[in-house]
Amino acid sequence: MGVNIERLRDLLYEITAISSTPVGCTRLSYSREDKKVREILDREFERLNLEVKVDKLGNIRAKYNPYNLKTPSIMTGSHIDTVRNGGEFDGLLGVVAGLEVINTIDQSGIELKYPIELAIFAEEEGSNFGVTMLGSKYMTNRIDLDYLKQIYNYQNKSAYDMLKEAGYMDNKDYFIHRDDVKCMIELHIEQGPVLDLEGYSVGVVDRIAGMNTIKVNLIGQSNHAGTTPMKIRKDPMVAAGEMIYRLSKIYKKYNLKNNVITVGKIRARPNNSNVIAASVEFFIDIRDVDYDAQKTALEKVEELYGDIINKYNIEGEFKEIGYSDIVITSDFVKNAVINTAEQLGIRYKIMNSGAVHDNAMLNGIVDHGMIFVPSIGGISHDPRENTDFKDIELGTNLLLNTILNINKRS
Ligand code: GLV
Ligand code: MN
Ligand code: MN
Repeated sequence: MGVNIERLRDLLYEITAISSTPVGCTRLSYSREDKKVREILDREFERLNLEVKVDKLGNIRAKYNPYNLKTPSIMTGSHIDTVRNGGEFDGLLGVVAGLEVINTIDQSGIELKYPIELAIFAEEEGSNFGVTMLGSKYMTNRIDLDYLKQIYNYQNKSAYDMLKEAGYMDNKDYFIHRDDVKCMIELHIEQGPVLDLEGYSVGVVDRIAGMNTIKVNLIGQSNHAGTTPMKIRKDPMVAAGEMIYRLSKIYKKYNLKNNVITVGKIRARPNNSNVIAASVEFFIDIRDVDYDAQKTALEKVEELYGDIINKYNIEGEFKEIGYSDIVITSDFVKNAVINTAEQLGIRYKIMNSGAVHDNAMLNGIVDHGMIFVPSIGGISHDPRENTDFKDIELGTNLLLNTILNINKRS
């Protein structure tokens, strides 16, 4: 059985047309654009007769259960939020592919043993508060409402207050449990170059990288840029410059071959060209698929922070605001995907994910795994993000048939 790729593409492009920026896609969770996308999805949910639940974080669970089964569901889905000026496929592809799978099954009249549930996790990208996978962390009990009071967006609004304003806080909770979800299979673009370079149409994910997100604030002494001699300055911008440069050398210095460290967000205060900064705040994103390497990298980052504070004789704050473990996907899902790919004659590559995913948050709760499709040129989190619809069709057919095989088998 195969999906209707035109229908999938039309829905994807209907949604990508909604963006707050003219370049790339910008759809932050809880924004006006997010609301508009949810209206389109509601239309689809209604058409397919899905039972829809929305929780306190704005996570959506939409269940296809025409036979009123009491069995746990096979879950699929992803996220609809983006980074600022992101691409068209990250997250959204898994959502429209999940809907297309339900559409195809609905039209086929095939009998199910398990309901199919589409999950749309809120705030996966961390674009509002700098913390990734907020919705899936909440749905899997990794964070609580108190934590939401301690993370802020750039307008200094807490996640908790934003959710209250968005009207979600009065909703019930719908945590993910083993007794209501049998497994979760997420289709996603690879976001890296491996499949494209090696000529595969699909990847089967083995490990998903772990991640530490650190917020650093270096605090110096603000003063006049023209009158303050260089020798007596306490300039946190210079300290930040050295620290960021040395962060980029950690993998080499300590021989951590897959480790990646990024500072992608920075803000000086007061942020005037003729004022020595009072403080510089930036976020450090540390990732690895190896447990020891991730631990070493984190230790070395903290050591470097201590060094910088001493060297420049400044004050500072170093706070871990987000964390996710390195995760190995479940054999149950990996084997189901691999067996289905072999049955369909699809060449696949078993590979790791350097990006983090909501799917990883289900680890230890239910069986979970992912299917990747290639990102052309390995570009993602950028308006140039692109994937061939032929690969999307293969990947979505693999998702569909994996779900059908699990449905048949167990
Ligand atoms: C999420 O997309 C991430 O890997 O940062
Ligand atoms: Mn994503
Ligand atoms: Mn992303």
